[in-house]
Amino acid sequence: MNRTKKILLALLIVFIAIQFIQPAHNKAVQVLPTDFAKVFVVPNNVQSVLQNACYDCHSNNTNYPWYSNIQPMAWIMARHIKNGKDKLNFSDFGSYTSRRQISKLKGIANQIKDDEMPISSYKMMHKNARLSKEQKDLIMDWMSRTADSLSVNN
Ligand code: HEC
Repeated sequence: MNRTKKILLALLIVFIAIQFIQPAHNKAVQVLPTDFAKVFVVPNNVQSVLQNACYDCHSNNTNYPWYSNIQPMAWIMARHIKNGKDKLNFSDFGSYTSRRQISKLKGIANQIKDDEMPISSYKMMHKNARLSKEQKDLIMDWMSRTADSLSVNN
């Protein structure tokens, strides 16, 4: 066997070996009472954008595509989900202090405005997560208004 073949064989063995190390899935059995949609009266069109474009990384329930079982995809995804949930978890939203809720609502509007979220690698694989101008305006507007109404009450 020449050198190139040996390297390829070694890579193949590593690729197969890492398939056996799978991170735990982010799958909750029930929707918590602290879920965003239970804490606020969220219009259907707003909720469906959040569900399609954000909940995979920002809730306790990820909709896993088929390739999520292939390494190293599963690790990359698990990392996005962990970091995403640490910063913003729609399933836990009701447990945040109102100050934190206001700051997250404004943060969501800003991330959409700056086109930072959903992250681009995700948009490549998820057509539903590529938001139209109307969808962006809808989310920004609703998030800002909700943040303002909380600010008035607190
Ligand atoms: C593929 C995973 C993924 C998707 C889908 C996604 N996010 Fe994120 N999001 C992340 C990660 C990872 C971070 C943390 C980034 C960092 O630490 O720099 C983050 C950070 C954020 C933050 C910053 C929170 C803070 O307080 O710092 C906001 C707001 C946010 N995302 C909103 C959204 C919204 C709204 C959507 C849907 C339109 C969305 N994200 C879709 C992964 C994702």
